[in-house]
Amino acid sequence: METIAILGGTGKEGMGLGTRWARAGRRILIGSRDAAKAQDAATKALSDAPGASVDGATNEDAARAADLVVLTIPYAGMEAILSAVRAACAGKIVVDTTVPLRQFAPPVLDAMPAGSAGATAQRLLPDARVVAAFHTVSSAKLHKFGEPVEGDVLVCGDDADAKAKVSELAGLIGMRGIDAGGIDAAAALEQLAAVIIGMNQRYKKKSIGVQFTGI
Ligand SMILES: NC(=O)c1ccc[n+]([C@@H]2O[C@H](COP(=O)([O-])OP(=O)(O)OC[C@H]3O[C@@H](n4cnc5c(N)ncnc54)[C@H](OP(=O)(O)O)[C@@H]3O)[C@@H](O)[C@H]2O)c1
Repeated sequence: METIAILGGTGKEGMGLGTRWARAGRRILIGSRDAAKAQDAATKALSDAPGASVDGATNEDAARAADLVVLTIPYAGMEAILSAVRAACAGKIVVDTTVPLRQFAPPVLDAMPAGSAGATAQRLLPDARVVAAFHTVSSAKLHKFGEPVEGDVLVCGDDADAKAKVSELAGLIGMRGIDAGGIDAAAALEQLAAVIIGMNQRYKKKSIGVQFTGI
């Protein structure tokens, strides 16, 4: 069975994605800076995914044991965590979900030398195939486990096979993956997520998403 490690998987987004993928039959390793916190999160995820395979581990151990790695950490933690898991991620698909907010309300993105969090992740993990995706998939929606998560997931990266694989992960939670271009498109996807966070604030919603027509 394919094993997916979710680094920073103890947080809202990681728990939402991980629990959904566990319910869809994938083996999940929840990663944390603290192994005991990861194990507690795994126990919680199992309560929403009875009979599934979910374990907790340090971020490093989870990345090493996984076939595919997902990042659900704040941008502030990216450099330290990715430096520690660089060897463990070599040759693997690494999915970056980061929306690098400097300020939440109103949303303002950080300025980054690489242009985006996704491109930063690819620079920090030169031997991995980084795919940026899931920026616009709200944790509030993911955590309503009894309801489908409709809508589209824009997926970008420089490796076509990796993007196809990440689109399959979107499909596992009922969403449609759409190829949005190379890793340089991550800047636009992160900006789109910031626009949506602002819309949530203005319309007093928690889970506005995106759905494209004509494709
Ligand atoms: N929340 C959403 O709706 C949503 C939607 C789309 C994308 N995202 C993106 O997903 C990522 C996680 O979002 P979230 O809302 O789940 O965040 P979160 O709950 O604040 O953080 C996720 C986890 O990251 C770890 N972490 C926190 N600060 C850290 C630091 N300075 N260095 C390293 N690790 C740190 C923590 O895990 P440990 O303490 O266990 O190590 C925490 O549980 C963000 O980049 C966000 O932009 C979120």
